[in-house]
Amino acid sequence: MSAAPLPAELVTRLRAARRVAVLTGAGISAESGVPTFREAQTGLWARYNPEELATPEAFRRNPKLVWEWYAWRRERVRQAEPNAGHRALVEIERRVPEFTLITQNVDGLHRRAGSHNILELHGNLFRAKCFSEDRPVESWPDGDESPPRCPRCGGLLRPDVVWFGETLPAGPLRAAEHAAATAEIFFSIGTSALVYPAADLPFKALATGAAVVEINPQPTPLSPHVTFSLNGAAGEILPALVARVWEPGGQQRP
Ligand code: OAD
Repeated sequence: MSAAPLPAELVTRLRAARRVAVLTGAGISAESGVPTFREAQTGLWARYNPEELATPEAFRRNPKLVWEWYAWRRERVRQAEPNAGHRALVEIERRVPEFTLITQNVDGLHRRAGSHNILELHGNLFRAKCFSEDRPVESWPDGDESPPRCPRCGGLLRPDVVWFGETLPAGPLRAAEHAAATAEIFFSIGTSALVYPAADLPFKALATGAAVVEINPQPTPLSPHVTFSLNGAAGEILPALVARVWEPGGQQRP
């Protein structure tokens, strides 16, 4: 399958860009075998009820169920490997002076691929925090208790991810808003662009004059507003874009 044609103007602008910001969602990890959330049949929210698994109330009701569901997701991600889309973003970071990777993903695959300047807006599956104190813990005992106990206060540990009804971590969100408002090019990759405040970031970029590029096989509510729409899989389009923009001879490729 060949990737969608790459607009020549995007190629020129990316080659010259000094500030690039990228927002990723579950779609970038789909080609690593990590399920997305909202796709019919395969999405996690098609098979599981977020109200039973991804809210503070759900945890209060059934902490064991919630902890074990996240442990199952952690195990799936542990068995996955970063894909060509994650790796292409590492290449872009190497070439662009100011590069910010904003992700809604909790799978840690960007860091495993080798990206550095990452803002995790929705937390990380591989961290835990105390449910009562709301403070992260360095590590947790892998014993019989599920969920394990906080080593400081003995309270229950929960995954350090953002649940429905919770606010995003303030520092990363502020940094993401700044990156969006100062970027010359902003990419929205593999996200349904439905969950706020992340979904607002491309609009912040558009408002300050950035070119916004969407990479997604499906249209989203953002699609009518973007400067360039690249219709297809991130794992195919991103490597093709990197090759075209920076590799010798890449400019001549169709
Ligand atoms: P969604 O599942 O809502 O959307 C995934 C998007 O990825 C869809 O638009 C797909 O069309 C697209 N997609 C699928 N395969 C792709 C591929 N190979 N390349 C590019 N795009 C592809 O996931 P998110 O937008 O990440 O929040 O969802 C946002 C948030 O909602 C998540 O962070 C999670 C969820 O509830 C929390 O858990 C707080």
